[in-house]
Amino acid sequence: MKITVCKDYDEMSRRAGEIIVRQMQKKPDSVLGFATGSTPIGLYQYLVKAYEEGKIDFSKITTFNLDEYIGLPPDHEQSYHYFMEENLFSKVNLPKEAIHFPAVEGELSGKGYDKAIEDAGGIDIQILGIGRDGHMAFVEPGEKLSIFTGKYDLLPSTIEDNARFFKSREEVPTKAVTMGMGTIMRARKLLILANGEAKRDAVSQVMEGDHVSTLCPVTFALMHPDASLIVDEEAAGYR
Ligand code: F6R
Repeated sequence: MKITVCKDYDEMSRRAGEIIVRQMQKKPDSVLGFATGSTPIGLYQYLVKAYEEGKIDFSKITTFNLDEYIGLPPDHEQSYHYFMEENLFSKVNLPKEAIHFPAVEGELSGKGYDKAIEDAGGIDIQILGIGRDGHMAFVEPGEKLSIFTGKYDLLPSTIEDNARFFKSREEVPTKAVTMGMGTIMRARKLLILANGEAKRDAVSQVMEGDHVSTLCPVTFALMHPDASLIVDEEAAGYR
């Protein structure tokens, strides 16, 4: 695991952005795995700017998002479809048919999503945030972690964390579809980002670097052959 501690959120976003830009320049038909949430917003802004400056081109890129709430229509302001549209997709030349999200039913549900990723050649770089409880995607801590894409119940702590984006806690979906731990681990590179004090516990388990635990899913990334953790000083516990 390569760990980079950055001064602040902007530096974390820039460092991550540089990695994605290099990947897209090296392989214009890259398959990218995207995350939502507050953590990667700065990274997406970096990518939009790089696109506007003509440094990158999304016309041959394929994308697979990590997860989506169950029960929100794609045009709901808090759906992950909407988030990606707002923060990246509507601002770059990514073809609509190149965009993929895990679905509740149909071809892109469950293992069908894993197969679609495989058929596309596998994910070159998977961007990931970390939940306060150490979750990646919506793979929540527990006795067992699912290997494949599927439906999951969100833990109360995650519902609580996500409530800040909704008018009330009652509106926060309690279920999601998400890549499984195996789906994530099959990406050729993991790019994990975390900023802010709330992520300190989860980040410290990765920085200790000597164990994996299903109770802190992000620790599984320690076994990945090419994983990078980019955090700010607050998440690293430096201040
Ligand atoms: C989002 C996702 C989640 C978030 C995590 C951190 O697609 O998969 O695992 O990365 O909950 O969320 P933020 O960045 O809002 O702190």
